[in-house]
Amino acid sequence: MKTAILGAACLIMCSNTAFAANAVRAPFGALSDGTKIEAVTLTNGAGMSAKIMTLGATLQSLAVPDKAGHKDDVVLGYDTAQEYLTRPNYFGASVGRYANRIAKGKFSLDGKGYTLVTNDGPNSLHGGPKGFDKRVWKIDAVTSGPDARAVFSYVSADGEEGFPGELKVTATYSLNEQNELKLEYKATTSKPTVLNLTNHSYFNLSGNDARDVMGNMVTLHAAKFTPVDATLIPTGERRAVAGSPFDFRTPHRVGDRIRDARDQQIRYGRGYDHNFIVDGAAGSLRPAAVVNDPVSGRTMEMSVSAPGIQFYTGNFMDGTFFGKAQRSYRQGDAICLEPGVFPDAPNHADFPTARLNPGQTYINTIVYKFSAK
Ligand code: BGC
Repeated sequence: MKTAILGAACLIMCSNTAFAANAVRAPFGALSDGTKIEAVTLTNGAGMSAKIMTLGATLQSLAVPDKAGHKDDVVLGYDTAQEYLTRPNYFGASVGRYANRIAKGKFSLDGKGYTLVTNDGPNSLHGGPKGFDKRVWKIDAVTSGPDARAVFSYVSADGEEGFPGELKVTATYSLNEQNELKLEYKATTSKPTVLNLTNHSYFNLSGNDARDVMGNMVTLHAAKFTPVDATLIPTGERRAVAGSPFDFRTPHRVGDRIRDARDQQIRYGRGYDHNFIVDGAAGSLRPAAVVNDPVSGRTMEMSVSAPGIQFYTGNFMDGTFFGKAQRSYRQGDAICLEPGVFPDAPNHADFPTARLNPGQTYINTIVYKFSAK
C-alpha cells in the first residue's frame, strides 16, 4: 500500500518534472579578447525557448511556435557574441544606465552638473559608448521549475560613463508554461543618481525575419505620446494621439501611416521612434502593447510597470550589416518596444522621475506573452 502511494506520488512528480520549464547554463563562445561568454536557455513544455547571454544580459534568441506549431526565432541579433560589440545595435540588450537620449549629454542633480559622452549627434544615447549592453554580466542564479529563471547581475562603478553612484543591477528573466517571458530589472545606488533600464529586443514575429513588420498589427494602450525635436529629444509636450499616425489605441498596420510625411513627427523619426505614455498608473503591471503578425498568427502582448514605452521600427537599419544566418537588416524589419521612463527625463522636471536615491530599489517589470492562432 505504502509503495503504491509512493509510486503514485512519483508519477505526479515525474510528470511535473517533464513539463516544468527548464533552465540550462552553457558556454556561448568568447569575445575576440578571449573573455568567455555564457548563456542560459530557458525552455518550457509549450514550445518556447529564450536564450540570454552574459554580454549585455542580452536576449539572444527567442523561439516561439506559430499557428501551425513551427518554432522560429522572433528576435533580431547575431550568431556570435563578438558581433554584438563589433556592430552594436542594442539587439536584445539590457540597456543602461540611461536607455534612450539625454539632451546634449548633460543633466544636473542637487545643483551639481554632470557631463556624459555624446554618442548620437549632440546627445547621449543608451548609456554612452560603453553602456550596459557592452558589459559582461554575471550569472547569479539558474533555476528550473514551474518558472525557469536566470538572474544576471552587473555592478556599475561610481562615475562609470559619467553617471554618479555605484549602481548594483540585476536582470531576472523567467519563462512559464503560459508562454510568458517576464523580465525584471532592479537596481540600488550608493549616491543619488538617474537611471532608465530597459530591454531593447527587436521583434519580428514572422520568425527568422521572413518578412518585414509593415503588415504587423500594433495596438498601443496610450492616449498620448511625447513629441520630439529634430534630434529626437522630447519637447516637453504630451500630445494626444487622436487623429494622428500615432493613434494605435485600436489595432493598425504598422505600414499604413508610417510614410505620412504631413506629420512632422513622422519626418523627425523617419517613421516611428517615439515614447508613448502608457495609460493607467505606472508602478503596477498593465497592458501596454499588442503586436500581431497575421501570416504566422503569432501575437505578443506586453504588460509593463513603466510610465512610457518607446516604439521604434528599426528606422536606422540600412542593410549594411548582417545578422543571424547572414540576414541583411533593413529599415522596418523589426519592432522595438522599450518600456521605461521618458527620454531625457533628467532634464524635464514634470516628467516621471528618473532619480534613484540610496535606500530605494528601482524596479522595471516587463511581461511578454506569446500566443498563436
Ligand atoms: C532609439 C532609436 C535608436 C535605436 C538604436 C532606440 O531606442 O529610439 O532612435 O536609433 O534605439 O538602436
